[in-house]
Amino acid sequence: MNEQEHENSQAGSNYAAENVNGTAPLSSNGAFNHHTAKGAQPLYRASFEQRRIQPYAQIIGWGYHIPERIVTNHDLEQIVDTQDEWIRARTGIQERRVVAVPQETTASLGARAARKALEMADVHPAKVDLIICATSSPEHIFPATASIIQDNLGLIHAGAFDLSAACSGFVYGLSIARGHILAGDAEYVLVIGAETLSRWVDWTDRATCVLFGDGAGAVLLAASDVPGGVTASVLGSDGSGAELLTIPAGGSASPASLETVSSGSHYIQMDGRAVFRFATRIMADATRQVLDKAGIPISEVDLVVPHQANKRIIQHSVLRQLKIPEDKVYVNVQKYGNTSTASIPIALCEAIDEGKVAPGDNLVFVGFGAGLTWGACTVKWSVPVEKPESTWWKNTQRQATYQAAAARSMWKRAIRRIYSQMEPLTLSRPERSTEEEQTT
Ligand code: COA
Repeated sequence: MNEQEHENSQAGSNYAAENVNGTAPLSSNGAFNHHTAKGAQPLYRASFEQRRIQPYAQIIGWGYHIPERIVTNHDLEQIVDTQDEWIRARTGIQERRVVAVPQETTASLGARAARKALEMADVHPAKVDLIICATSSPEHIFPATASIIQDNLGLIHAGAFDLSAACSGFVYGLSIARGHILAGDAEYVLVIGAETLSRWVDWTDRATCVLFGDGAGAVLLAASDVPGGVTASVLGSDGSGAELLTIPAGGSASPASLETVSSGSHYIQMDGRAVFRFATRIMADATRQVLDKAGIPISEVDLVVPHQANKRIIQHSVLRQLKIPEDKVYVNVQKYGNTSTASIPIALCEAIDEGKVAPGDNLVFVGFGAGLTWGACTVKWSVPVEKPESTWWKNTQRQATYQAAAARSMWKRAIRRIYSQMEPLTLSRPERSTEEEQTT
């Protein structure tokens, strides 16, 4: 059996099993099967023939992961010419999390967050159809960080790609996931926002290094016939502002060279004032537009979860321009700084933990970022927010699943190494008939 046949045979056996077992996670009688039928879930996703196209994309799982290392404003005072009072007054940030060891990467943070989202939803990794990793600090230009997470978690049936829309990426991801589900192309989609921006920040530049932090958040969307979930989205871009927030080098426009490295062109560069002006306008506009699209009056919004870039941007946009009361706008930028694509899912998870989200609530996610880009979406929250109880048996099963994923990955790498060390096959050209010889 060659390498391709070996991979096909593995996939084939899983597809055979999924044909027998698949079901939809949510049903029109309001029963959320992924919570109520714990342990009775089929292991494999439904086959395409078995799936009914469902009209809603519900968020059924969520989770976040942040590095342990805390960098406070006072710590930054030791590195650059800045003051705690300045940072608090201009941004609202008090501290941020930063990766401490090389093993902590965008993929490792994203995988931890995604794992929690899957556990929350009680959905087996093999059932996920698509994984979208929105990130501004990918592990590599390629392969996609999403593929690394896919392998890490054993999402053996999932397509995977990274989404580059800077800090708006998570909202873009939700919009794409919704479209994929509503088209009937996917039943479960993982949307992750993951960042290690501390590795792209110039720690001698006080204008940017005080702003950013590391972390990851993830949600699992599922096809459903229960009304609600992600109900509308608005996405936008204005590339004329591309140079306002950029990492100039490292792409095809300016490949890495001694010169780009010595000039610091691989670090984040930003025109803070211009981005501030854009952000305050667009956050309010995008929120208004998406609410119009969803047919929800501002008075009926229960919670806005904005991109956590700067407390003043949030105050000047959704709070003042839209007159949404403070208790309906979630803010946690003081703890994490700007975690780019991860900021909205992290904030969502913390809002849920603090009891600020309940079934029936109208939520708005709104973000902006480099590009320039912006995005907003409305979510009718429809699932219970209580964590499903975790038994030792369930935990053991999960551990085994992830250990099996690690073993599978090692096995595949080993097989590839063996094949690469074997004598290359000499493919002889098929003999041509004398007739063919004569016609050429
Ligand atoms: N500590 C102390 N002083 C600082 C400083 C720091 N970390 N960073 C800048 N300053 C100084 C400037 O040098 C300037 O000094 P000067 O007047 O002597 O030239 C002064 O503070 C004011 O700078 P300015 O850039 O006008 O401040 P600001 O009020 O616009 O605040 C930002 C700066 C970056 C906080 C603000 O512009 C901002 O939040 N912009 C949006 C950035 C953002 O969200 N980016 C991510 C998008 S996803």
